Amino acid sequence: QEAHAAEMERTFIAIKPDGVQRGLISEIVSRFERKGYKLVAIKLIVPSKEFAQKHYHDLKDRPFFNGLCDFLSSGPVLAMVWEGEGVIKYGRKLIGATDPQKSEPGTIRGDLAVVVGRNIIHGSDGLETAKDEIALWFEPKELVSYTSNVEKWVY
Ligand code: TYD
Repeated sequence: QEAHAAEMERTFIAIKPDGVQRGLISEIVSRFERKGYKLVAIKLIVPSKEFAQKHYHDLKDRPFFNGLCDFLSSGPVLAMVWEGEGVIKYGRKLIGATDPQKSEPGTIRGDLAVVVGRNIIHGSDGLETAKDEIALWFEPKELVSYTSNVEKWVY
């Protein structure tokens, strides 16, 4: 069955400042690459606190919201868009549970993080969130359309 890139699902994935500072960029990017997903956008940015508040607006009433936004804006974040079949849900599976103490070994948070406040990575939790987050972090022209050489073997 042919899979057409134009119809492919996309998700927003970000390595938080702790993951960047700990030197885990290549480790994390590699897990998405090896799975067979396609990188369509990537940039390193230090978000402002206002930007972090926009990103996490759904959590504005939670007690950890302020600390979370301070943390996200405390250093460089590697913002990415990954594409592929089921990438939103399976991306969350690669990432593991929110609390690294509850993430299975083999997941990114299970293998590489210890506490919920420093869980190194973000991934969109649904189709609408993915669309909103991609639009918040990237301009349309930053999303690169191309045919990857592995696609014909992945699909
Ligand atoms: P949430 O969207 O619930 O989790 P996820 O990142 O897995 O989608 O929460 C966003 C972030 O908020 C989470 O990655 C870490 C932080 N957080 C806390 O610091 N304390 C908490 O009790 C929770 C639930 C989240």
